[in-house]
Amino acid sequence: MAIVAGLGSRAALGLCATVILLDMAFCKSVVQDLDDSFKENRKDDIWLIDFYAPWCGHCKKLEPIWNEVGLEMKSIGSPVKVGKMDATSYSSLASEFGVRGYPTIKLLKGNLAYNYRGPRTKDDIIEFAHRVSGALIRPLPSQQMFEHVQKRHRVFFVYIGGESPLKEKYIEAASELIVYSYFFSASEEVVPEYVTLKEVPAVLVFKDENYFVYDEYEDGDLSGWINRERFQTYLTMDGFLLYELGDTGKLVAIAVIDEKNASIEHTRLKSIIQEVAREYKGHFSRDFQFGHMDGNDYINTLLMDELKVPTVVVLNTSNQQYFVLDRQISDAKDLIEFINNILDGSVEAQGGDSILQRLKRVLFDAKSTVVSIFRSSPLMGCFLFGLPLGVISIMCYGIYTADTDSDGGYMEERYEMSKSEFEIQEQPEENTDQEPNSGDSTAPTAQEPKDVLEKKKD
Ligand SMILES: *[C@@H]1O[C@H](CO)[C@@H](O)[C@H](O)[C@H]1NC(C)=O
Ligand SMILES: *[C@@H]1O[C@H](CO)[C@@H](O)[C@H](O)[C@H]1NC(C)=O
Repeated sequence: MAIVAGLGSRAALGLCATVILLDMAFCKSVVQDLDDSFKENRKDDIWLIDFYAPWCGHCKKLEPIWNEVGLEMKSIGSPVKVGKMDATSYSSLASEFGVRGYPTIKLLKGNLAYNYRGPRTKDDIIEFAHRVSGALIRPLPSQQMFEHVQKRHRVFFVYIGGESPLKEKYIEAASELIVYSYFFSASEEVVPEYVTLKEVPAVLVFKDENYFVYDEYEDGDLSGWINRERFQTYLTMDGFLLYELGDTGKLVAIAVIDEKNASIEHTRLKSIIQEVAREYKGHFSRDFQFGHMDGNDYINTLLMDELKVPTVVVLNTSNQQYFVLDRQISDAKDLIEFINNILDGSVEAQGGDSILQRLKRVLFDAKSTVVSIFRSSPLMGCFLFGLPLGVISIMCYGIYTADTDSDGGYMEERYEMSKSEFEIQEQPEENTDQEPNSGDSTAPTAQEPKDVLEKKKD
């Protein structure tokens, strides 16, 4: 029996080695493994780099995607070079580039480092690399070009006019926000006829078959406005998006549904929220973002609540409060009424970022960690949490019996032991990967000045 098992594992090992060799031969030329020499050798090249840690699960998931990214960038002849760096082996270099968690995807262009925060799919990553490595502001010389861009991009910004202080602000905002959107410039003649401008120069956003003009007095700072307007009015929400929307300070109205459930309650709620987003975009788009989300897992963790699907939640991204209705929404009018009640303050807000809520968050996260450890590996759970409990009981027993025993040495020894057990318990937390909803990273280093795109709120 033991021999069979031994042979089996040796064969498996051999197979693994071949796969790894093949893998390396295949990918070596498309994804370069970078080390300390990178700093001197990178020169003026544009680099797309995955900073990973060997032990991190999300990094392993990214690896095959990363190889595909490298392969495709090479095959289309992109000037962007694709690399990866073990950020634990070259930690000082990684922290110079502002790496604070794993995996971190960055595009390095000159002395700027752009963070990628979108979904980790091949197409999204490649689109990001094209956008950020290309021209900051792309000129639109003709109406045909304008129409072409309109077909290709769901959301994009256009500066209209000649040289001006507004244009300088636009360029400055674009140099930071190019990670999120496309920036163009055009002359007045090129703009479609349905666009009416009160004055030129102007900055416009085109989205949802509509356009909105930036108004310095109402909208405040230009990059703040771009950051708020860079999303379509209606979105299919997920954790990544909700995290990104946190920057906008808008209210986010979400239909939480089960996409697989074909019953009328679910499908109707989705069409109601789509209808409101579409019909009332002029009215609500300044303050609201609409969308639907499949399943309530993510939102339950975010709100620390158990929502019954289907339902509508409205999140206030500037103070983490949220609003829910305890009944079903019957039509668009009903939803509008709910929204208006939120705006005039007659619906009570829940959640928030008060001290009490933060305490609740700590307890909630601790509970989820324990539950998830028990779920993924009950034995490990017993070991991590059962053992300290056992030790504590022994300790209590020790204290109890020590009462009758005048010698305190026994007690101290037990205390020491339980303390070291608690240290073991804390370890797995440090090893968790960076998740968008936890908001923070594993290695707290000082913010790098080069790093143009760290979250302002971080
Ligand atoms: C679909 O949703 C309805 C209403 O929420 C629920 O009663 C029903 O059990 C769900 N069906 C399935 C297959 O989950
Ligand atoms: C959302 O939060 C901000 C900041 O606390 C607050 O000023 C605003 O009134 C809130 N909006 C609603 C609808 O509660």
